[in-house]
Amino acid sequence: MTTYRIAPSILSADFARLGEEVRNVIAAGADWIHFDVMDNHYVPNLTFGPMVCQALRPHAVTPEGQRVPIDVHLMVQPVDALAQAFARSGADLVSFHPDASTHVDRTLQLIKAEGCQAGLVFNPASPIDVLEWVIDKVDLVLVMSVNPGFGGQSFIDSALRKVERLRKIIDASGRDIRLEVDGGIKVDNIRRVADAGADTFVAGSAIFGQPDYKGVIDAMREQLAR
Ligand code: DX5
Ligand code: ZN
Repeated sequence: MTTYRIAPSILSADFARLGEEVRNVIAAGADWIHFDVMDNHYVPNLTFGPMVCQALRPHAVTPEGQRVPIDVHLMVQPVDALAQAFARSGADLVSFHPDASTHVDRTLQLIKAEGCQAGLVFNPASPIDVLEWVIDKVDLVLVMSVNPGFGGQSFIDSALRKVERLRKIIDASGRDIRLEVDGGIKVDNIRRVADAGADTFVAGSAIFGQPDYKGVIDAMREQLAR
């Protein structure tokens, strides 16, 4: 039985009320908080750094006070210093784009050495073969179903084939690796993405673009339960 996780991306949240937004979306049922880091170098956009992650850490809790994982997605180049900084600023997972790191295995080791889970992110046109050589160090694979840099884009269908292929690789490895999809996820396509083999879903504009966060998350879970 697959445990599905919904990870709202705060890129689409109200930046003037981030702490409140994090609390509200968790109270609405979010499993993780997806934290999109953009450096205006690797992607043509600029968001927030480790200090904002640190500021949000105490807000990423359930109403009962249970810690909620902060899933940091680094769209930055170079990677290493920021990966370490986020791991030390309350991130539970740090994922990065392998094409943004000179030494992918070393970057993964560096994140793990901080006691943080590590992930690789694959862009729509990126090959996945690097995974074969570092799968023993990976806790998460993140498949981009949009080109990184912005929320509110349309889902790129070829991501489904990549998810299917990765699902086979992960199952064959016998390792506990989460398969997350990021970009253009909506109530009306999340089932298709789950059928392809994903178990974790990032959704930004689909959730924060609506007044009723719980209504959207419940509708997504209904689709996943079908
Ligand atoms: C894009 C980010 C995504 C984005 C998702 O570079 O990595 O996480 O915020 O936003 P939506 O769900 O609106 O496509
Ligand atoms: Zn993201």
